[in-house]
Amino acid sequence: MFSERMYEIAMRASSRVTKVEAPNGKPVDPDDIRRTGKGKKIKMIGLAQGETSTGVLTTIDGFRKVADELGALLVVDTVASLAAVPLDVDRERVDVCFSGSQKAISAPPGMSPITVSSTAEEVFRKRKSKVQSWYFDLTTAMNYWGKDRLYHHTPPISLIFALREAMRLVVEEGLETRWERHRVNQLALIAGLQAMGLKLLVEKPSDRLPTVTAVMIPGGVDDGKLRNQLLDEFNIEIAGGFGPIKGKIWRIGLMGYSSQKPNVLLVLAALEKCLIDQGFRVSSGAGVGAAVESYTHAETAAAVSR
Ligand SMILES: Cc1ncc(COP(=O)(O)O)c(C=O)c1O
Repeated sequence: MFSERMYEIAMRASSRVTKVEAPNGKPVDPDDIRRTGKGKKIKMIGLAQGETSTGVLTTIDGFRKVADELGALLVVDTVASLAAVPLDVDRERVDVCFSGSQKAISAPPGMSPITVSSTAEEVFRKRKSKVQSWYFDLTTAMNYWGKDRLYHHTPPISLIFALREAMRLVVEEGLETRWERHRVNQLALIAGLQAMGLKLLVEKPSDRLPTVTAVMIPGGVDDGKLRNQLLDEFNIEIAGGFGPIKGKIWRIGLMGYSSQKPNVLLVLAALEKCLIDQGFRVSSGAGVGAAVESYTHAETAAAVSR
């Protein structure tokens, strides 16, 4: 859905856009972009590193290679992945990388951190026509951020202070430690879900986005009823699916501040209770037990590597 949103935004800006798709639960293959773009003048390739609607993680490297071959800029949405998943904007040479403040950074919503490479900046500066949107015109916004400090908009100062504090916490924890925390918590969640007999939408472990785990809703279980019970009885909100996978998946978010051991163990125990109430057979404590084992395994591995 969010990769599709990028397509929709580009269409509304009167760009000619070609969609390259993958089945839900799988990342797009860079070779499909290569085939689609061959012989065409492609200005930009856009993708979401973390696709929140399906819990799919896309590896950026292959797309950079295709972008180089096609002479295109690479634009990456990291709204659901920044500060949770390894990302190296400079090494991966992402031309435009944008994110959101409210997910794994865990600051208030309302800001979109963005980086622009010198190649992309040059492309913007050479534009012959003006950008239709005043507020999304980076050519003028960049003059505000740059040494000229030319007024472009009123900055949301209170939000920027909140973002600064959230970033300070990221630095205090350490980026690599934070990536590892997200990985370990998701592994424990997955171990628990699978031990309860649940299946995941994303089959290949390396394609799984650590911040969002998409679980297949078992047959006979009422999606809305279960999510309402989780909220009413346990104060836990999990999300449903969008579009063609609405009613087929649940999405469990573990991002930023919320990616914590107590949350993993609580959601597994609560899910077990709600599933049992709907007649789904779960062997008692299987989910929490498997998650605890997964944590113990991760702690032993970390101690050995120290
Ligand atoms: C991957 C991704 N891109 C873009 C967005 C849109 O962000 P916002 O809701 O802040 O506009 C979201 C929101 O969930 C997202 O998950």
